[in-house]
Amino acid sequence: MKLLEDRIRKDGVVKPGNILKVDSFLNHQMDVELFNKMGEEFKRLYADAPITKILTIEASGIGIACIAAQHFHVPVVFAKKSQSVNLDGEMYTAKIESFTHKRTYDVIVAKKFISPDDHILIIDDFLANGCACLGLIDIIRSAGATVEGVGIAVEKGFQKGGELIRKQGIRVESLAIIERMDDVTGEITFRS
Ligand code: G4P
Ligand code: NA
Ligand code: NA
Repeated sequence: MKLLEDRIRKDGVVKPGNILKVDSFLNHQMDVELFNKMGEEFKRLYADAPITKILTIEASGIGIACIAAQHFHVPVVFAKKSQSVNLDGEMYTAKIESFTHKRTYDVIVAKKFISPDDHILIIDDFLANGCACLGLIDIIRSAGATVEGVGIAVEKGFQKGGELIRKQGIRVESLAIIERMDDVTGEITFRS
């Protein structure tokens, strides 16, 4: 999506360790008009999919998912991060290992919010190693629901998440895919 790529080139900051800072429009301050164009694009891409619900993960996925949901006319559920899971049987849980933050946490979704007849679109801001997304896929499968696909704002194409998920036969649509970036020159190359 050219609009997002242009914005990343203009306002994104490449940090050491292959981290892209997009705090001024995506991860801290949020450009809601841009989110709306992204939501429109997700809807165009998934126009034929019988989506009944959008699933994301707190915190940064929520804003994008909510604006996208206005184009799909479906509810948004966000997985909650929690340090310790109270296994009372009312929750689906998945363990997520964050390479970027070097820690492991559990995410939970109440069973009552995903049912076997749901067709779910996963939306998130970044796809890096794919751990967050794989955790959400796990939860959807535990519920017996269908994963219709994944919609990502920024995929770091040089990390393994996109490949891992596509190899499972799951559709992944990323609005911008970064092929490489350089923290010295600030240069960002997108996959065409
Ligand atoms: P993974 O989920 O793809 O495996 O990613 P990883 O563990 O490597 O990343 C953990 C967190 O860091 C995720 O957010 C992810 O969105 C974010 N992230 C990964 N690479 C980048 C990057 O280059 N730039 C930015 N800005 N974020 C990146 P999170 O921990 O779930 O936090 P949040 O959603 O509360 O912000
Ligand atoms: Na995220
Ligand atoms: Na994030």
